[in-house]
Amino acid sequence: VNTGEAVFAMSRPTPQDIQVRPATARDYEQVMSISEGVYSGVDYLPVRYHEWLEDPKRRMFLAKFDGRVVGFESFVVVDAGVTAVLQGLRVSPRMRGRGVAGIMQQTCIDNLQSNYPDVTRIRLTRLEEPTPSMLSKYRMLHSKAVVSVILPHDQLDHAVKLLKHRVQSAYGRRPLVALTPEEVLSVFENSCTAEGLLPKGLLIQGWLPLSIHRSNLELLLQRGVVWFHSEHSEETSAKTSKSRNTSDAISPSSEFLSLGTPPYSVPLGDGMHRFDIDLFGTDPIAAEAHVLHQLIEGVRLLPTGGGVICFLYAEKSLEAELTHFCQGITPFPLWNKQLVLEQDI
Ligand SMILES: CC(C)(COP(=O)(O)OP(=O)(O)OC[C@H]1O[C@@H](n2cnc3c(N)ncnc32)[C@H](O)[C@@H]1OP(=O)(O)O)[C@@H](O)C(=O)NCCC(=O)NCCS
Repeated sequence: VNTGEAVFAMSRPTPQDIQVRPATARDYEQVMSISEGVYSGVDYLPVRYHEWLEDPKRRMFLAKFDGRVVGFESFVVVDAGVTAVLQGLRVSPRMRGRGVAGIMQQTCIDNLQSNYPDVTRIRLTRLEEPTPSMLSKYRMLHSKAVVSVILPHDQLDHAVKLLKHRVQSAYGRRPLVALTPEEVLSVFENSCTAEGLLPKGLLIQGWLPLSIHRSNLELLLQRGVVWFHSEHSEETSAKTSKSRNTSDAISPSSEFLSLGTPPYSVPLGDGMHRFDIDLFGTDPIAAEAHVLHQLIEGVRLLPTGGGVICFLYAEKSLEAELTHFCQGITPFPLWNKQLVLEQDI
């Protein structure tokens, strides 16, 4: 640490000391330099940064202190213009704990209030329980479990075989077929699907929490997301009812939905790609079949020699079953929950 940095490290900024301005393509390297180690090498921002700049519904901000980039935050307007989702928040390691994140959040809110009068709420995802101070501002909408495994290239075939062997229902023999865009829209025309499958009506794709609105579905269709949807099978219900106390349990729906975000490369290196699979529904047999078929599809999309870190986001009632399902594959225990919070502005 040189003398300049020591002074920098000791200074405590007031809001006036922090300049927040729009982020541009030229700021990429500096934003990456404050992002080292974020999410233990499975950060999405290196891949998303330039895509996000092209998105007319998104605004990206930098915080500068003493001429250096010390923070990044963005929001994207969704739900047909009434909600902004905050994403990408990070503060340089040596500036953490001094209110920079709070200043950036306030900047986003100020910008929304001035430029997006129709936006009445902000939403965000989190991987840790919110602090009491956050809970005084945000309400918790939903919490899902996260199960994750790492599959280097040379273990992919073995893992797919192992999971195929474990999926014993009719699903295993009859592959799920990815939905076409028309089929995606028609699944959600049935309002029972939204109510039965999506707690609080939230469709969360790769940490982006959306309500069911046609404009949101169209947004997801542009992203190359792989959608599987399945309904009742006899074997599904048989196993489901055997494994539950049927007298007082909430009747489980055998309808199931999964969204696979195409794998993308992450800073971890060694050809590793992050692969997010969002699962909706409570039927364990269906969940396993969806994971298997999403994995097969994800592996098909990988470049030669690539491996994956696979994150499964599911209802908490499926956590034990999915952990068991993945036994024998190396866990990648980074996060264990995905929380969605919302605040009216
Ligand atoms: C999380 C992180 C951005 C916090 O930055 P920070 O500058 O140390 O945080 P602050 O000192 O401003 O204090 C936290 C304030 O920001 C808010 N905040 C902190 N983390 C937040 C989060 N993930 N989402 C929303 N608000 C958050 C808190 O409510 C708090 O506001 P308050 O002072 O009114 O209570 C920082 O630790 C970081 O960069 N971590 C690595 C990347 C990361 O984990 N990002 C979080 C994505 S969920």
